[in-house]
Amino acid sequence: MIVIKDLHKKFGKVTVLDGLNLTFEDKGIHTILGPNGSGKTTLIKSILGMVIPNQGSIEFNGKQILGEWEYRNQISYLPQIAYFPQNLKVKELFQMINDLRPGSKNEAKLISLFQLEPYLDKKLGNLSGGTAQKVNIVITFMFDSPLIILDEPTVGLDPVALIRLKQLIIEEKEKGKTILITTHIMSLVEEISDNIIFILEGKIYFEGKIDSLKEQTKQSNLEKAIANILEETYA
Ligand SMILES: Nc1ncnc2c1ncn2[C@@H]1O[C@H](COP(=O)(O)OP(=O)(O)O)[C@@H](O)[C@H]1O
Ligand SMILES: [Mg+2]
Repeated sequence: MIVIKDLHKKFGKVTVLDGLNLTFEDKGIHTILGPNGSGKTTLIKSILGMVIPNQGSIEFNGKQILGEWEYRNQISYLPQIAYFPQNLKVKELFQMINDLRPGSKNEAKLISLFQLEPYLDKKLGNLSGGTAQKVNIVITFMFDSPLIILDEPTVGLDPVALIRLKQLIIEEKEKGKTILITTHIMSLVEEISDNIIFILEGKIYFEGKIDSLKEQTKQSNLEKAIANILEETYA
């Protein structure tokens, strides 16, 4: 589905992606891990065409994405930070999204799943961080796309919402979707990932099953395995 070759991205003098190669053909849940600032969001935005790499190529279903936009209709994307129009009401935002991108479904089900009914008439600027994140999640899952990209979807969520989100992700996986997710919640990673991709210093440090990372690092705990790698790298 996605083939990334020799991707380089610098912001000013800072090299963020440094010859990154990555291929995803498989359906299922691929989790991108890496310390803060390691380039996870930059990688995701590059796939979406929101960041233009300095070098390298990205193919989506066999076609270069540079200068293309139609492929984005096959992607649902949850941004790490959603900049909502602060003066719009929640229900007005849902209407706006429906006008911009026809074909949404499950909106009522998702609103009810995240118990957003009491907030529909509230302005987006007045929502708490967690409630705004629930709105962000509803918008993402309203569309039926073969590729779902979730950039830190758990931020600010209460435990009930976290469980609901997990259910949603698993349901989509069972429908045969490809899901790309970044998160720092290791229990979630362990529970749902089919494959993990660990970015370090602008390259892929590890890609594969959680068990092989544990084996490679001789740690039985994923959080410790990752902390070990970071300590060794930055020692
Ligand atoms: N638009 C930008 N302009 C300048 N620097 C940026 C920009 N976007 C990201 N960066 C920098 O690139 C690095 C990687 O950021 P990011 O991809 O957001 O990391 P992550 O998502 O892994 O935390 C950070 O040092 C960040 O400050
Ligand atoms: Mg990020």
